[in-house]
Amino acid sequence: MKINVGIDLGTTYSAVATFSKELGRVKVLKNSLNSDCTPSVVCIQNGKVLIGDEAKDEQKCGNVNTAAFYKSMMGDPGWSAYIDGEEYSAEKLSGLFLRELIRDVARTNNVEIDGAVITVPAYFNDKQREATIRAGKQAGLKVLKIINEPTSAIIAYGLTGGKDKNVMVYDLGGGTFDVTVAHVSGTRIDVLATNGNHQLGGKDWDEALIEDIKDRFYYDFSISIDDHEEDLKELQVKCEEAKKRLSSAPSTVISIQCEGMLGKYTVTREEFADKTSNLLNETISLINSCFEEISEAKNRSFGWSDIDEVVLVGGSTRMPQVKDMIVREYGKQPITKDINVDTIVATGAAMQAELCVSSTITLTVASAPSQQGGGTATANRATPMTLTIHNSDIQDITAHSLGMLALANDNKTYINSIIIKKNSRVNETFSREYTFAGEKLQVYVLQGESRDPYETDIIGAYSITGMPKDNKGKIKVNFLYNSNGVVEVNACLENGQVLSAVKENSNETMSEIIARLERERREAEELARRNSRIEIMLIIDTSGSMSGRMGQAQRSATEFLSGLDFSRTYVSVISFANTSSVVSGWSNNKNDINSGIRAIGSWSADGGGTSATPIETHYRKFSSECNHRIMVILTDGYWNNQSSEEHSASKAKRDGITIHAIGIGEADEAFLDRISSGKGKKVDLSQLTEAFKEVAASIATETSGNTIK
Ligand SMILES: Nc1ncnc2c1ncn2[C@@H]1O[C@H](COP(=O)(O)OP(=O)(O)OP(=O)(O)O)[C@@H](O)[C@H]1O
Ligand SMILES: [Mg+2]
Repeated sequence: MKINVGIDLGTTYSAVATFSKELGRVKVLKNSLNSDCTPSVVCIQNGKVLIGDEAKDEQKCGNVNTAAFYKSMMGDPGWSAYIDGEEYSAEKLSGLFLRELIRDVARTNNVEIDGAVITVPAYFNDKQREATIRAGKQAGLKVLKIINEPTSAIIAYGLTGGKDKNVMVYDLGGGTFDVTVAHVSGTRIDVLATNGNHQLGGKDWDEALIEDIKDRFYYDFSISIDDHEEDLKELQVKCEEAKKRLSSAPSTVISIQCEGMLGKYTVTREEFADKTSNLLNETISLINSCFEEISEAKNRSFGWSDIDEVVLVGGSTRMPQVKDMIVREYGKQPITKDINVDTIVATGAAMQAELCVSSTITLTVASAPSQQGGGTATANRATPMTLTIHNSDIQDITAHSLGMLALANDNKTYINSIIIKKNSRVNETFSREYTFAGEKLQVYVLQGESRDPYETDIIGAYSITGMPKDNKGKIKVNFLYNSNGVVEVNACLENGQVLSAVKENSNETMSEIIARLERERREAEELARRNSRIEIMLIIDTSGSMSGRMGQAQRSATEFLSGLDFSRTYVSVISFANTSSVVSGWSNNKNDINSGIRAIGSWSADGGGTSATPIETHYRKFSSECNHRIMVILTDGYWNNQSSEEHSASKAKRDGITIHAIGIGEADEAFLDRISSGKGKKVDLSQLTEAFKEVAASIATETSGNTIK
């Protein structure tokens, strides 16, 4: 029989459950050792994969080819475990574990497992969620959905169809802590706030004991257990067992052997609670953050008195000090009736799995709606009643803000500009609009609360392409947490045309990204500066034949100058006859340039011939920072070196220089054409101003528009 399951993929223990339509409730699927929970331990030896208790036994015996607690390293590219001669990422270990877990449970229960809802701590970020999805696929599962563990617990526990209530789920597992507050109304669940720490769990309480025993052993024998990997693995297992014993006994003994020495140490519950009080305090401060966030969102104070029920989830809540702390803070007892802290998460996930394929489920619940508490799926007492839940009844939120890397108003610092605030509903789209005319818009998506991008997680660089050339309209980029809590980014134009938005895989660190963006920005500014500068070399014939024409030449040239944009145009004035000389160098000061022109006019032609080579002599004298380089030549006769100048003009044009040649008097029209970029202009003296104006117009066209290429 093919079934869909819910899997609580825990740091220390995992559980699998399925919803039975016939029974109207969830069945937890036992493993081959007849247990509801399977230790999330993997042992790989000579290629053979062992999991669960078998692997845990190996760990206990100090087998170094075992891995545990890898869940908190999910999605961390820098972490791997070296086992059986190979490197394993947390994702790969989870994949192997899930594969074996599913095989074992399927065989034991004589079913075929098809689709699965896998639970993750609410506080898992995008990378950890994606890594979990990949691990599920690697195990051969159809991953129906990723669901938050506390939300899953509320689905399993909270849906009694009764009166409205605010429920707090305090989930302290083996490696993670999550606190979630939700409003439950009938069959509807609205998660209000969630907080957590995915590096805080039962293992930290173990660690406190381990450190204590290591210190005491060192004090007695001057032997460091850290130097003995096998003994350390054994100590880890023993300390976890001792911790569990302390949940029911006032004291316990831990014995450890290393280098032939045997140490026996008594630990009391009180001492243990004392040593770990800082860990418990961390959970209180995360609860308080939840209250603050809800208060802010509701614009009224929200605290313990607004909580109707506290549900303890996760094996570590069996520690009496957890319950004591809740009673101290809350003033009331948490709900314990009908709740199995080990399987409640898998139970909710199984209901969610059924919801994924059927969109509604009908539960046979044990208690009447008005009755407080009561597990819907785990208990079966009192008068049964049915409760129909719709997929849309469950509204989850995101535990992390989503932002993008942006330049702050000071144009210097980079910030995380938040787009989706923490505790926002999943499946809701948030948009940003951009004015951008380039070909590829890159958006760096970040996860985290801090404005400082260095304190966030980089989700990825999304490249948005497919815009029309020189796009003038706005680009709308849409950001979304999908129902798996995974980030999705897409983009469109104002008219709705969909653009391509591709996440680029890169291992760049934040400082590498920022350094590169800074460099690109500087280069773009430099390019823009260069591209916007226009240089015009005004080359005026002052040979003998120009006498009598100089006055008009000066007036026309002055008129020409009056039409130029001197915020970006630089002009140099050159005269030529038998020699050529720079009358005024590059300047964007109109007065300076005009006095250069006046100087030429007052020379009134030097009476000489035209043996100069003005093009060859000056075409390399444009400054290197400019892209619009223009020569405007005015002449009235034949040049001695026309053919070599034609050659030089060709070189200049090949270099990107534009040449406008204007001829008056006896100028050689064919020569003007050959040296010009377009056609030369041969005109009467009376039309000279007009000719210059035409040149000015064509320069304006050439240098306008999108100057940033
Ligand atoms: N009786 C007990 N007393 C104290 N701690 C216990 C007890 N029983 C189990 N634990 C601890 O509970 C933790 C396992 O809890 P649980 O199975 O809920 O975690 P998990 O789902 O594996 O982890 P997580 O939810 O963090 O991914 C372990 O650290 C285990 O040592
Ligand atoms: Mg758990």
